[in-house]
Amino acid sequence: MKKISVLFVCLGNICRSPAAEAIFINLLEKKKLTNDFIIDSAGTGSWHIGKKADSRMIIAAARRDINILSRARQISIKDFEEFQYILAMDDSNYRNLLDLKNNISSADSASIKKIQNFRSVFYEEEVPDPYFGGDEGFDHVLDILEDSVSGFLESIS
Ligand code: 4NP
Repeated sequence: MKKISVLFVCLGNICRSPAAEAIFINLLEKKKLTNDFIIDSAGTGSWHIGKKADSRMIIAAARRDINILSRARQISIKDFEEFQYILAMDDSNYRNLLDLKNNISSADSASIKKIQNFRSVFYEEEVPDPYFGGDEGFDHVLDILEDSVSGFLESIS
């Protein structure tokens, strides 16, 4: 069976999309679905390439027994051909992804959506950027993502 490939995307790839990736991996492990998926995350920006996720996010996630192991990378044209689903954290990421996709001729390139399309508990239509805020912002991002990431899994199951 062909694996389902999912790429989570934010701006820096050090806060929101690594958290979404780790939450999704954790959820797939619990549901014994790990082998059915290819999961990754990327940023639209290039500032943090090669870096670990923000330590504030790593610590907040670890309190929920979620390990964030990713290293930041920037999205590339190849990702639009290799991933079935590309999930943006906010409107700005979403618009940037659509602009990038418009430059690709491949007919079967990725389905691009906002992760918050799959929310059920939280009202936010975007995952807020916690980078310039306090520690509580990181917990809020995790709360939001636990809701919408599981909603995404249900939508494709
Ligand atoms: P992320 O957060 O997009 O959730 O990874 C950010 C990380 C870094 C910056 C902005 C947002 N920055 O401006 O460096």
